[in-house]
Amino acid sequence: MQICRTKAAIRAEISAWRASGASIVLVPTMGFLHEGHLSLMRLARARAGAGGKVIASIFVNPTQFGPGEDLDSYPRDEARDFDLLRAEGVDAVFAPEVAEVYDPQAQTSVDTAELSRILIGKLRPGHFRGVATVVTKLFNIIRPDAAVFGEKDFQQLAVIRTMVRDLDMEIDIIGGPIAREADGLAMSSRNVRLSPADRAAAPVLARALDQAQDMAPTGITASRLRSHVRATLEAEPRALVQSVDIRDAATLETIAGPLTRPAVILLAAKFGQVFLIDNRVLYPA
Ligand code: PAJ
Repeated sequence: MQICRTKAAIRAEISAWRASGASIVLVPTMGFLHEGHLSLMRLARARAGAGGKVIASIFVNPTQFGPGEDLDSYPRDEARDFDLLRAEGVDAVFAPEVAEVYDPQAQTSVDTAELSRILIGKLRPGHFRGVATVVTKLFNIIRPDAAVFGEKDFQQLAVIRTMVRDLDMEIDIIGGPIAREADGLAMSSRNVRLSPADRAAAPVLARALDQAQDMAPTGITASRLRSHVRATLEAEPRALVQSVDIRDAATLETIAGPLTRPAVILLAAKFGQVFLIDNRVLYPA
């Protein structure tokens, strides 16, 4: 497994592969890898096919963190990440320093306008501009045939798909299902920062989603469903509920009445200082 620290190094590595006709699949990450990330590496391997190449990136992207967010405390363990990626048979890792990625004179960013200002974008202003910009840069550096993202970050996946459509990027975007702990908690690099009491409380998110999934086919309206789920979350005193939203799964437009098409319920809550999100697609009867 090649470890590349510079754009020049990863480009040199890939150009030989591309010349041989290999399909190249990218999995962008911020590291501190868990089973959710590794499940995306396996999807990437399946998409790359025989002779194809899987590239992971590890980069804690400062432009997607707001002031007062957890950029400095974001967990890191590069040596362990490299071991995990090697064991998955990943062909190359792009793990640059911030100065390698961002020119201090940089002027340009990518913004998916409305989509980046709703939901998480409202709670974290500027977050999706940072995501869309760094993912565009990774796409331009690596020029993959396909890239894999988790459904865990549902709105992020929608932002990437929208950006790829709007800017004519010839990259196949693949979504991977949410990997969970045995008690239902969605895997996240941030879970290690939960106190033991918060870790024990956090599966309330998954339980609330189970409840929503059970109630969705009963003909209940989205606004009533939302109230039920909010009450479930608020019954857990350690959960600081940030948002509960039910949206059209395809467009992320608001829904209030009965579900007539697939919808997605999106949860965000803080446990102590740790911001967690989760979601599930809901189907009407
Ligand atoms: P990060 O949080 O490291 O996540 C990297 C990828 O793993 C994302 O596509 C995310 O949706 C996926 N992922 C995280 N937890 C998952 C889980 N439990 N199950 C399945 N997939 C999961 O998302 C980012 O990094 C960054 O915003 C990035 C896209 C790399 C841009 O900086």
